[in-house]
Amino acid sequence: MREPKRVAVLSSGGGTNLQALIARFNPAPAPAARVELVIGGRAGIAALQRAARAGVPAVVLDAREIGVDALAARMLDELERHRIDIVVLAGWLQLIPLEVVRRYEGRMLNIHPALLPAFGGKGMYGIRVHRAVLESGVRVSGATVHHVTDRYDEGSIVLQWPVPVLPGDTPEALALRVLAVEHRILPLAVEALASGDHASASPAGEVCFDLLTARVPPDSSVRALLAEPGSTGE
Ligand code: GRF
Repeated sequence: MREPKRVAVLSSGGGTNLQALIARFNPAPAPAARVELVIGGRAGIAALQRAARAGVPAVVLDAREIGVDALAARMLDELERHRIDIVVLAGWLQLIPLEVVRRYEGRMLNIHPALLPAFGGKGMYGIRVHRAVLESGVRVSGATVHHVTDRYDEGSIVLQWPVPVLPGDTPEALALRVLAVEHRILPLAVEALASGDHASASPAGEVCFDLLTARVPPDSSVRALLAEPGSTGE
């Protein structure tokens, strides 16, 4: 039987996407992948508590403390020590050093809370993304999983899912609706990559969701994740 691919999740905050990945992969008997390492961008974040509760090893690599120059070596060291096959950025706010991007080319994914290439790029993160979406007047937003390159939000797109912008939306309400979808598509994309099915999950490939009938998780599931003790809901 094939060994599950060893996944590292990098998070700088609430870690609800991390939780969705752990829920999908870690309890299963023979999953395609397993979360084996969490790298936190700063100490004390909820993602680290989630890792501890799930029994997943975690380390903190805060570039402000160790310095940007040391970050690449420390990160590669941790990824190699834990024999990581796939790296997932889920709310990671620091720039990924070029050496790490190169080492994991084609094996590093990021989740972005909008439909790239719109509303992406430097400075477009967190609630700012949803604010910009609302200010633009578009009626559809969504979530995007894409490969990581050395430029913000520019790697090839693996999966996208639309989310309606509703009348009277606030950035916070839209963020919650998008987050529920993120929790669904990120595990799908990781599973596709881990099972070698990646080509079929490419935009030109055969994986296509029936957007008319597809059910996205109700808000209650994202609220349950956000309500976990210690969650900052970032
Ligand atoms: C998500 O919206 C993700 O798209 C963005 O940061 C947020 C992280 O949320 N990159 P969480 O930490 O997984 O709860």
